[in-house]
Amino acid sequence: MRPQIGDLLVRAEGDKPGTLIAAADLKPGDAQVIAWAIDPKTKLPRDGSRLNQVLLLRFDPATLSPLTKTRAADGIVAYSAICTHAQCTVTGWLKDRQVLHCPCHESLYDPRHDAKVVGGPAPRPLAALPLKIADGKPEVAHLFIGKVGMTQPTM
Ligand code: FES
Repeated sequence: MRPQIGDLLVRAEGDKPGTLIAAADLKPGDAQVIAWAIDPKTKLPRDGSRLNQVLLLRFDPATLSPLTKTRAADGIVAYSAICTHAQCTVTGWLKDRQVLHCPCHESLYDPRHDAKVVGGPAPRPLAALPLKIADGKPEVAHLFIGKVGMTQPTM
């Protein structure tokens, strides 16, 4: 099951995996935090599929494109963490350019502008996950917009 409306987000890696992410934990311009969506009732991740991994970043809201602004909460944006080229996890962050970097084949995505592709072989933007803030925490406000991961071959 993909992230659902009302899900909370927990850290997927680092020294505190499973910790709930608060808006205050995310600083403008910092590298992405990789997260899982959890069911707020059971506190369990929706499913362990890598395709459910999400990345979170925060920016000055004034620097976001109009579309990204509609999906962001207090400047926090969320996207699928899975590259649309060959499904590596998008772990790189080029701080100077403020773009996401996929280490597998060098695709670049601009998270302030709808995660559009700005370099490399990725065929389309990362899927977006709209957010809202509740009790100081980012919460899923809408299902993924766009396809997660690779394009399926057409028959
Ligand atoms: S898997 Fe990301 S660029 Fe190829």
